[in-house]
Amino acid sequence: MNALTQDSRRAAERVGLSSDTIVIDGGKPLHGAVEVRGAKNLVTKAMVAALLADRPSVLHDVPAIADVNVVTGMLGAYGVSVATDGKGTYRLDPKNVERAHFAEIDALAGESRIPILFCGPLLHRIGEALIPDLGGCRIGDRPINFHMDSLRAFGAIVDKSYEGIRLTAPDGLHGADIELPYPSVGATEQVLLTSVLAEGTTELRNAAIEPEIMDLIAILQKMGAIITVEPNRVVFVEGVERLSGYEHRAMFDRNEAASWASAALATGGDIFVSGARQQDLTTFLNVYRKVGGAFDVREDGIRFWKPAGALRPVEIETDVHPGFMTDWQQPLVVALTQAEGRSLVHETVYENRFGFTEALVAMGADIRVVPGGVETSTRRVPRRPLEQTAVIQGPTPLTGADIVVPDLRGGFSHLIAALTARGRSRVSNLGLIGRGYERFTEKLTDLGAEFALED
Ligand code: EPU
Repeated sequence: MNALTQDSRRAAERVGLSSDTIVIDGGKPLHGAVEVRGAKNLVTKAMVAALLADRPSVLHDVPAIADVNVVTGMLGAYGVSVATDGKGTYRLDPKNVERAHFAEIDALAGESRIPILFCGPLLHRIGEALIPDLGGCRIGDRPINFHMDSLRAFGAIVDKSYEGIRLTAPDGLHGADIELPYPSVGATEQVLLTSVLAEGTTELRNAAIEPEIMDLIAILQKMGAIITVEPNRVVFVEGVERLSGYEHRAMFDRNEAASWASAALATGGDIFVSGARQQDLTTFLNVYRKVGGAFDVREDGIRFWKPAGALRPVEIETDVHPGFMTDWQQPLVVALTQAEGRSLVHETVYENRFGFTEALVAMGADIRVVPGGVETSTRRVPRRPLEQTAVIQGPTPLTGADIVVPDLRGGFSHLIAALTARGRSRVSNLGLIGRGYERFTEKLTDLGAEFALED
């Protein structure tokens, strides 16, 4: 069994998926409603923030996904008790924070990228942090140099050992002056979670400003932190001596909402995504409209559908917020295989996020990935050395195939492709999708999809 399949089986177990393979009979439009709850990329960080407090925190709308399960395990290893009502409300009590045993931490190695964010909070709480090997989607090198450089700026000492990464801060953590080479989401969160209790002030330049980061800042403010978001990606943090617990309802998962919207477009269907909010999706909605998709913003969600007529090709550049998110391109690419003409998708955030297109090509799509990217007169996002462009020529009918999920978002795009394709597809490594999409098989049933989990 290869490493990816192992990762997938572990994730499948974590979310109670009875099988790691799904057989889909495609070619049927998806119709109905799905509910989208708290964002994976906020909830997991909010759980880490609870470590900073001296009182319990309460987080609502936590989705049942594997990443939440991994973070729960990691918090447990450090003595944070995590209780859930089974309906998405989590109570996190950091009263008994203590050092973890290596074996407990090691058992979680390779399953998620979130443990890297434990560094600052653990240094504040117990004076040292032991971080296991990181996991997460294999969509590029995913270095952690910005994280480690920032932590060193706060006064941390970083040692790499056979156990993982060990950090200490013999003189405590003090405010720092940091400029990120790129507005990294994770590194910005690292700085926020470390600076709030550091002595003195921190200025962070070139910060990421994704809505999930703003929601994390709102949580930290509820806890007692003083954080000012200034123009031009500058964040200013005045360290405080103690933080209290928070109660918070997590913002909705924008990536999941965009995924279901793309599923409606590709299959020629109509899906109401309850919980989706226009304000955090405006860039996606513009592109959706340009491709020929329709949407209706309502009080409690957004309805997405494909009107009669052909889809139109588009050019997209992924970027940090407020640009078009890298996580949105994979599901949308499936719809672009059905558009009339040539679409260009420039991936500027990660160097390996088109792996999923191989399966689409096997199903009949005409997609060529150009390493180094393609220059056009309409490009606006600064070029990056690692970028790639997918050139998609449509429309091409898709036919069912045996495909293997490579990563979370790529995996969802495989599901959409299988649902769009005529005939039967067998999609394996399904567990990887469970890392970030809750109850997705139930949701597919609600939308009228024809499928069976393989025994
Ligand atoms: N980077 C570095 N050094 C670092 C950190 C990042 O070079 O120390 C580079 C990365 O290699 C990449 C770029 O900076 O080229 C952006 O990476 P970023 O740190 O912003 O990504 P991340 O924090 O690891 C989060 C999400 C991703 C999402 C990206 C971009 C979580 C857990 N993950 O990753 O979500 O694609 O931000 O918005 O929040 C997903 O949900 O499927 C997913 C991959």
